[in-house]
Amino acid sequence: MQPIDCGRHNRFLRALRREPVDTTPVWVMRQAGRYLPEYRATRQRAGSFMNLCRTPELACEVTMQPLERFELDAAILFSDILTIPDAMGLGLDFVEGEGPRFAKSVRTPEDIDALGIPDPEDDLGYVPAAVKLIRRELGGKVPLIGFAGSPWTLACYMAEGGPTERFSHIKKLMWDEPGALHRLIDKLTEAVKRYLEAQIRAGAQAVMIFDSWGGVLAPADYHEFSMKNLRALAQGIDRGPENVPVIVFSRGANEHLGALADIGADALGLDWTVSLGEARRRTGGKVALQGNLDPAALYASPASLRREVDLVIREYGRGPGHVFNLGHGITPDVNPDQMSVLVDAVHAFGRGATELA
Ligand code: CP3
Repeated sequence: MQPIDCGRHNRFLRALRREPVDTTPVWVMRQAGRYLPEYRATRQRAGSFMNLCRTPELACEVTMQPLERFELDAAILFSDILTIPDAMGLGLDFVEGEGPRFAKSVRTPEDIDALGIPDPEDDLGYVPAAVKLIRRELGGKVPLIGFAGSPWTLACYMAEGGPTERFSHIKKLMWDEPGALHRLIDKLTEAVKRYLEAQIRAGAQAVMIFDSWGGVLAPADYHEFSMKNLRALAQGIDRGPENVPVIVFSRGANEHLGALADIGADALGLDWTVSLGEARRRTGGKVALQGNLDPAALYASPASLRREVDLVIREYGRGPGHVFNLGHGITPDVNPDQMSVLVDAVHAFGRGATELA
């Protein structure tokens, strides 16, 4: 038998394609972020979060930081999902300790119809520029993930104008002006499609769609306002000659995993409220799975953290198609040393678990 060409440079892409790997690949959402002192230093130098995103050299620098410390199997573009609404003219700002804020919100049919679709090479040119720079800097060591927000999740931020717990404006729009909300979501679908295609042309080797607020919808509304457009993207994006895989992370939508397995995504991201074994049954081997350790496990002792990593890997069981990740982003007050414990544990426990069953 030919030995398989597998290692840090391609085990992530192989796992997404459900091909055998030498051990379970791992990366972590928000792996470049505030828990790293070197990230905080670069952010300070940049002056603001948006300056960091808009300066390709700085975005590249922070993308590389976690890879210099940990044996991660993928890099993720440093940017944010809210760059698209910013480029649509909403005026994005990140207020310290508060999260994102838009100067303008989108709450009426008139607001919606006035919006244009941003040109990713022009209005958002700093993003493909960062992708190109990062690919050059990575030199093939690990693959680069590009990303965007889902149309529904972007619409939530645009209607609310910032973080929310109630979703009052977006849901009012959904019930009072469903036609207008569909027009907004369709515009955003086209914007996300062009944006991800520009990232792919610039060199992104996988793309992830963050549907962070999918889980706030009742089932029928989820199908109509979130999943339908996730499907349009998974099936409609021009993936280029390398047939770049698409990962869809619809947070809080575990109820819909069976349906999500059929939208045309290669992999589904999972939060920690479903076990990987159950998720595997619900998705019937049609997609790879990415997840799903509770991010709070990073506050536990190294011994407890290793045990929880082992449990997630065992819960997935034998066979290819698992990319290890947290169920949501790493939190800012985690001790970076815990990331080494996690990454090393995944690679140790994943060995042998990932061949064909
Ligand atoms: O390392 C990576 O994962 C890549 C970079 C990345 C960021 N945001 C950087 C960031 C990615 C993939 C995102 C996605 C993102 N952004 C999502 C989807 C994932 C999720 O969390 O559900 C969402 C909803 C956003 C919007 C957003 N950006 C919020 C709500 C916040 C504030 C909350 C927070 O965590 O601070 C941000 C800010 C943000 N985006 C930071 C980082 C590193 C922290 C900002 C800072 O440095 O002050």
